[in-house]
Amino acid sequence: MPNLLESNQLGGRKLQRVVYTEEVIHNRIQEMGVEISAAYGPDDRLLLVGLLKGSFLFVADLVRAIDLPLQVDFLVAASYGARKKSSGDVRLLYDPEASLKDRAVILVEDIVDSGATLNRLVPLLEARGPSSLEVCALLHKRLVTLDREPRWVGFDAPKDFLVGYGLDYAENFRHLPYIASL
Ligand code: PRP
Repeated sequence: MPNLLESNQLGGRKLQRVVYTEEVIHNRIQEMGVEISAAYGPDDRLLLVGLLKGSFLFVADLVRAIDLPLQVDFLVAASYGARKKSSGDVRLLYDPEASLKDRAVILVEDIVDSGATLNRLVPLLEARGPSSLEVCALLHKRLVTLDREPRWVGFDAPKDFLVGYGLDYAENFRHLPYIASL
Protein backbone atom coordinates (compact mmCIF):
# COMPACT_ATOMS: atom_id res chain seq x y z
CA MET A 1 0.00 0.00 0.00
CA PRO A 2 1.41 3.46 -0.82
CA ASN A 3 2.52 4.90 2.52
CA LEU A 4 2.20 8.56 1.70
CA LEU A 5 1.80 9.64 5.30
CA GLU A 6 5.47 8.78 5.66
CA SER A 7 6.71 9.81 2.25
CA ASN A 8 4.31 12.69 2.75
CA GLN A 9 4.90 14.78 -0.34
CA LEU A 10 2.85 13.68 -3.34
CA GLY A 11 1.69 16.55 -5.50
CA GLY A 12 3.61 18.94 -3.29
CA ARG A 13 0.93 18.56 -0.58
CA LYS A 14 1.14 16.92 2.81
CA LEU A 15 -1.32 14.35 4.07
CA GLN A 16 -2.38 15.12 7.63
CA ARG A 17 -4.06 11.94 8.90
CA VAL A 18 -5.90 8.86 7.74
CA VAL A 19 -9.61 9.50 8.26
CA TYR A 20 -10.96 6.15 7.00
CA THR A 21 -8.71 3.11 6.72
CA GLU A 22 -8.98 0.58 3.92
CA GLU A 23 -10.60 -1.88 6.32
CA VAL A 24 -13.18 0.60 7.62
CA ILE A 25 -14.13 1.56 4.05
CA HIS A 26 -14.39 -2.08 2.99
CA ASN A 27 -16.59 -3.06 5.95
CA ARG A 28 -18.95 -0.12 5.46
CA ILE A 29 -19.34 -0.86 1.75
CA GLN A 30 -20.23 -4.48 2.52
CA GLU A 31 -23.00 -3.18 4.81
CA MET A 32 -24.24 -0.79 2.14
CA GLY A 33 -24.29 -3.63 -0.38
CA VAL A 34 -26.51 -5.67 1.93
CA GLU A 35 -28.85 -2.70 2.46
CA ILE A 36 -29.11 -2.01 -1.27
CA SER A 37 -29.65 -5.71 -2.04
CA ALA A 38 -32.56 -5.73 0.41
CA ALA A 39 -34.15 -2.61 -1.11
CA TYR A 40 -34.66 -3.98 -4.63
CA GLY A 41 -35.89 -7.13 -6.28
CA PRO A 42 -34.40 -9.14 -9.14
CA ASP A 43 -36.93 -7.66 -11.59
CA ASP A 44 -36.13 -4.02 -10.88
CA ARG A 45 -33.58 -3.70 -13.71
CA LEU A 46 -31.14 -2.05 -11.34
CA LEU A 47 -28.68 0.38 -12.93
CA LEU A 48 -25.85 1.92 -10.97
CA VAL A 49 -24.57 5.15 -12.49
CA GLY A 50 -21.19 6.12 -11.09
CA LEU A 51 -20.08 9.72 -11.14
CA LEU A 52 -16.54 9.83 -12.51
CA LYS A 53 -13.89 10.25 -11.79
CA GLY A 54 -14.14 10.30 -8.02
CA SER A 55 -16.42 7.26 -7.62
CA PHE A 56 -14.44 4.78 -9.69
CA LEU A 57 -13.14 2.73 -6.76
CA PHE A 58 -16.36 3.05 -4.78
CA VAL A 59 -18.46 1.77 -7.70
CA ALA A 60 -16.07 -1.12 -8.26
CA ASP A 61 -16.33 -2.23 -4.63
CA LEU A 62 -20.02 -1.43 -4.18
CA VAL A 63 -21.27 -3.45 -7.16
CA ARG A 64 -19.37 -6.47 -5.89
CA ALA A 65 -21.18 -6.14 -2.57
CA ILE A 66 -24.66 -6.15 -4.17
CA ASP A 67 -26.32 -9.53 -4.57
CA LEU A 68 -28.76 -8.71 -7.38
CA PRO A 69 -28.73 -8.60 -11.17
CA LEU A 70 -27.55 -5.10 -12.12
CA GLN A 71 -25.85 -3.06 -14.78
CA VAL A 72 -23.21 -0.37 -14.42
CA ASP A 73 -22.74 2.87 -16.30
CA PHE A 74 -20.99 6.14 -15.62
CA LEU A 75 -21.30 9.83 -16.12
CA VAL A 76 -18.67 12.50 -15.90
CA ALA A 77 -19.45 15.83 -14.33
CA ALA A 78 -16.64 18.10 -13.27
CA SER A 79 -16.75 21.24 -11.16
CA TYR A 80 -13.49 21.53 -9.25
CA GLY A 81 -10.64 21.45 -11.77
CA ALA A 82 -7.41 22.04 -9.84
CA ARG A 83 -9.10 24.17 -7.20
CA LYS A 84 -9.99 23.04 -3.70
CA LYS A 85 -13.38 24.74 -3.72
CA SER A 86 -16.30 23.89 -6.00
CA SER A 87 -16.94 26.44 -8.71
CA GLY A 88 -20.65 25.55 -8.55
CA ASP A 89 -20.59 25.24 -12.32
CA VAL A 90 -21.17 21.55 -13.00
CA ARG A 91 -20.29 20.45 -16.51
CA LEU A 92 -21.54 17.16 -18.02
CA LEU A 93 -18.64 15.71 -19.98
CA TYR A 94 -19.92 12.16 -20.51
CA ASP A 95 -23.49 10.93 -20.49
CA PRO A 96 -24.49 7.32 -19.61
CA GLU A 97 -25.03 5.14 -22.66
CA ALA A 98 -27.72 3.10 -20.93
CA SER A 99 -31.33 4.25 -21.11
CA LEU A 100 -32.66 5.13 -17.67
CA LYS A 101 -36.29 4.72 -18.67
CA ASP A 102 -38.27 2.43 -16.34
CA ARG A 103 -35.16 1.33 -14.52
CA ALA A 104 -34.30 1.47 -10.84
CA VAL A 105 -31.37 3.86 -10.95
CA ILE A 106 -28.84 4.52 -8.21
CA LEU A 107 -26.56 7.49 -8.75
CA VAL A 108 -23.27 6.69 -7.02
CA GLU A 109 -21.28 9.65 -5.73
CA ASP A 110 -18.00 9.62 -3.84
CA ILE A 111 -18.54 12.75 -1.74
CA VAL A 112 -21.24 15.34 -1.18
CA ASP A 113 -19.59 18.67 -0.48
CA SER A 114 -21.48 21.81 -1.55
CA GLY A 115 -24.20 19.61 -3.03
CA ALA A 116 -24.04 21.49 -6.34
CA THR A 117 -23.25 18.36 -8.33
CA LEU A 118 -26.20 16.35 -7.02
CA ASN A 119 -28.64 19.26 -7.07
CA ARG A 120 -27.84 19.69 -10.74
CA LEU A 121 -27.68 16.02 -11.76
CA VAL A 122 -30.69 14.56 -9.94
CA PRO A 123 -33.32 16.56 -11.92
CA LEU A 124 -31.41 15.89 -15.12
CA LEU A 125 -31.54 12.11 -14.56
CA GLU A 126 -35.07 12.22 -13.16
CA ALA A 127 -36.25 13.73 -16.45
CA ARG A 128 -35.20 10.53 -18.23
CA GLY A 129 -38.03 8.55 -16.66
CA PRO A 130 -36.41 6.01 -14.31
CA SER A 131 -38.89 3.93 -12.31
CA SER A 132 -36.96 5.14 -9.26
CA LEU A 133 -33.89 7.27 -8.65
CA GLU A 134 -31.85 7.11 -5.45
CA VAL A 135 -28.46 8.48 -4.52
CA CYS A 136 -25.74 6.51 -2.78
CA ALA A 137 -22.82 8.57 -1.46
CA LEU A 138 -19.76 7.21 0.28
CA LEU A 139 -19.12 10.48 2.12
CA HIS A 140 -21.43 13.34 3.06
CA LYS A 141 -20.08 16.49 4.69
CA ARG A 142 -23.61 17.60 5.75
CA LEU A 143 -22.82 21.21 4.89
CA VAL A 144 -26.17 21.72 3.17
CA THR A 145 -29.57 20.13 2.85
CA LEU A 146 -29.90 18.70 -0.64
CA ASP A 147 -33.00 18.81 -2.80
CA ARG A 148 -32.76 15.01 -2.70
CA GLU A 149 -30.77 13.54 0.18
CA PRO A 150 -28.87 10.32 -0.54
CA ARG A 151 -30.77 7.26 0.60
CA TRP A 152 -27.47 5.56 1.45
CA VAL A 153 -24.48 7.32 2.99
CA GLY A 154 -21.28 5.57 3.95
CA PHE A 155 -19.93 8.11 6.41
CA ASP A 156 -20.77 11.59 7.67
CA ALA A 157 -17.43 13.13 6.78
CA PRO A 158 -15.41 15.85 8.48
CA LYS A 159 -15.16 19.21 6.76
CA ASP A 160 -11.47 18.69 5.94
CA PHE A 161 -10.35 18.43 2.33
CA LEU A 162 -10.28 14.67 1.79
CA VAL A 163 -8.24 12.67 -0.69
CA GLY A 164 -7.73 9.01 -1.53
CA TYR A 165 -9.99 6.14 -2.54
CA GLY A 166 -10.92 8.03 -5.72
CA LEU A 167 -10.86 11.54 -4.25
CA ASP A 168 -8.21 13.84 -5.66
CA TYR A 169 -6.44 17.08 -5.20
CA ALA A 170 -5.38 18.31 -8.67
CA GLU A 171 -5.68 14.68 -9.89
CA ASN A 172 -3.28 13.33 -7.27
CA PHE A 173 -3.97 10.84 -4.44
CA ARG A 174 -6.87 9.03 -6.16
CA HIS A 175 -5.06 5.69 -5.89
CA LEU A 176 -4.71 5.64 -2.12
CA PRO A 177 -6.65 2.70 -0.66
CA TYR A 178 -7.55 4.83 2.39
CA ILE A 179 -9.07 8.32 2.76
CA ALA A 180 -6.89 11.01 4.31
CA SER A 181 -7.16 14.72 5.01
CA LEU A 182 -4.93 17.17 3.21
C1 PRP B 1 -15.99 16.21 -6.78
C2 PRP B 1 -16.45 14.96 -6.09
C3 PRP B 1 -17.96 15.02 -6.23
C4 PRP B 1 -18.24 16.51 -6.25
C5 PRP B 1 -18.80 16.92 -4.92
O1 PRP B 1 -15.92 15.95 -8.14
O2 PRP B 1 -15.90 13.82 -6.70
O3 PRP B 1 -18.39 14.44 -7.44
O4 PRP B 1 -17.01 17.18 -6.49
O5 PRP B 1 -18.82 18.31 -4.75
P1 PRP B 1 -20.13 19.19 -4.60
O6 PRP B 1 -21.06 18.48 -3.65
O7 PRP B 1 -19.59 20.48 -4.02
O8 PRP B 1 -20.72 19.40 -5.96
P2 PRP B 1 -15.04 16.82 -9.17
O9 PRP B 1 -15.92 17.80 -9.84
O10 PRP B 1 -13.84 17.35 -8.46
O11 PRP B 1 -14.62 15.74 -10.23
P3 PRP B 1 -13.89 14.31 -10.01
O12 PRP B 1 -14.95 13.34 -9.52
O13 PRP B 1 -13.38 13.96 -11.35
O14 PRP B 1 -12.79 14.49 -8.98
